[in-house]
Parts: sequence; structure tokens; C-alpha cells
Amino acid sequence: MANKLRLEGKVAVITGGASGIGEATARLFVQHGSRVVIADIQDQLALQVVSSIGTDNVSYRRCDVTDEKQVEETVAYAVQKYGTLDIMFSNAGILGSFGSILEMDMTVFDRTMAVNTRGAALAVKHAARVMVDKKIRGSIICTASVEAILAGAAPLAYIASKHAILGVVKAAARELGQHGIRVNCVSPFGIATPMVCKSYGTDAARIEAAVCGNANLKGVSLSTKHIAEAALFLASDESAYISAHNLAVDGGLSSIMKLNQN
Ligand SMILES: NC(=O)c1ccc[n+]([C@@H]2O[C@H](COP(=O)([O-])OP(=O)(O)OC[C@H]3O[C@@H](n4cnc5c(N)ncnc54)[C@H](O)[C@@H]3O)[C@@H](O)[C@H]2O)c1
Repeated sequence: MANKLRLEGKVAVITGGASGIGEATARLFVQHGSRVVIADIQDQLALQVVSSIGTDNVSYRRCDVTDEKQVEETVAYAVQKYGTLDIMFSNAGILGSFGSILEMDMTVFDRTMAVNTRGAALAVKHAARVMVDKKIRGSIICTASVEAILAGAAPLAYIASKHAILGVVKAAARELGQHGIRVNCVSPFGIATPMVCKSYGTDAARIEAAVCGNANLKGVSLSTKHIAEAALFLASDESAYISAHNLAVDGGLSSIMKLNQN
């Protein structure tokens, strides 16, 4: 099992693939035999990731996920370069900025919804168009968050945008099931990626300490690799009958309310 290539011959697009969860997933997908197009807006970083993985199996396409034309062209690029599209991992996201609802900046709200929710909807739309057209029984995965299930420590717009992704995924899974296309979410708890460190204005060690302190499951530190493993499961044939599911990778946190026993 350990040596089995779980995505042999598959082709994937990973949005937000230049950093954090997307980067870890690009590496893991290639290790499992997939060819990958990284779609991101950080050109330099993405090209470094591509050259460190190896240009035989991974390539970079600049794509702002809020721009429909760029998303459509990125999907077309993957099909033209590698011949098909089996997997869309819609993972690009921003956390936005903190503040009270009483002073909410609606431009920040709109931007967060545009990247996180509109970006996911566009990725689902254009991946599905190709999959339906080419009769590909594909897998579409969106990165939501524990903040799609509960209101934890993130800004309001982020929480709203991630809850909305669950709606996009369920509605898309409902329609696309007839074509054999599965649509699922992966919902991580906290990891000290650049997005998180930047928005909280602190370093990785402090974020990790805060996450470990709040975690339900002790003795393991959540990493980007854990999320990549969950995405790999949802992308592979091992999840062949799973659709419209939100796979929380949170050590049980979002299902548990801890009450004071005293
Ligand atoms: N790190 C966490 O604690 C955590 C928890 C739950 C969910 N998430 C989600 O995981 C996903 C990945 O985030 P991460 O933590 O790996 O952060 P990250 O900052 O390492 O990666 C995010 C990537 O998205 C890209 N991106 C941002 N805006 C974009 C746009 N308009 N078009 C294309 N690409 C864009 C960035 O350039 C970056 O490479 C996000 O959707 C985030 O909301 C993260």
C-alpha cells in the first residue's frame, strides 16, 4: 500500500499551489503519479516550487482565481499540456483582516468572498465543464476550514466565505453526481502557513503554540502534510463513493464542545 501510486496517470490543477497546503499537496500528488498545474499569483515562489519538484510532472500557470477568464484558461492549459483533467483542488484563499462587525470594512468583506468563495465556484465550474464534456469521472476538492463549521478565531468575512464554500460543494455535488463527478471539501484546523502568520501578525512558533493549546487531539501537531493526505484520499479512487462530504482534519475539534466538569 505504501508504495502504491494512488494517482497514477491523473492530471490535477491546484489553486494556491505555490505555498502552504497547496504546495504540500502538489508534492504529494506528484509523488503519487499525478501531473500537476500549480495555479497561483506568486510567480517567483511558484516557479521555485516547480523547479524543486521537477518540471517533468509539474508546471506553473499564473491565475488569479477571482478572474473567470484566468480560471478558464488555466483549466484549458492543463488539458492542452497533459491531455485531460481528473482533479481540481480549489485551495487558494486569504484570511483577510480582523475587526469588529460594527466597523466592518466592506471592501475587505468583498475581497475575501471574491477569493475564497467566488474563486472556489469558478474552479468548480470550469473543472466540471471540462469533465462533463470529456466524460471524465473526476474529483473536485475545495479547501474550506473548521471556520466553515463553527465561528472560531477568524474574521467574519472569512467565516462567511468558508461556510459558503460548503454550499458550493453540496450544490455542485448534487448536480454533478449524474456525470460521475465527485465534489468534496477538506476542512483544516490551524497551521502556521504564511496566510495565517501574516494575518495574525505573528510568527509560526506562536501560532503553533496557540493551535496546540486549543487542540482537542494532543500529541500531534497539524501540518500541511496532513491536509495533503486528506486531499489525496479525496482525489484517489479510494474515496470512489464519497461526494458532498466535508472532511474535517481537526482532531475532532469542530464536533466537540468541552464543558467544565466541575
Ligand atoms: N493554514 C490554516 O490554518 C488553514 C486552516 C483552514 C483552512 N485553510 C485554507 O487553506 C487554504 C490554503 O491556505 P494556506 O494556509 O496554505 O496559506 P498560504 O498562504 O500558504 O497559501 C495560500 C495560497 O493562495 C494563493 N492565493 C491567494 N489569493 C489568490 C488568488 N486571488 N488567486 C490565486 N491564488 C491566490 C497565495 O498566493 C498562496 O500561495 C486557504 O483556502 C485557507 O483558507 C488554512
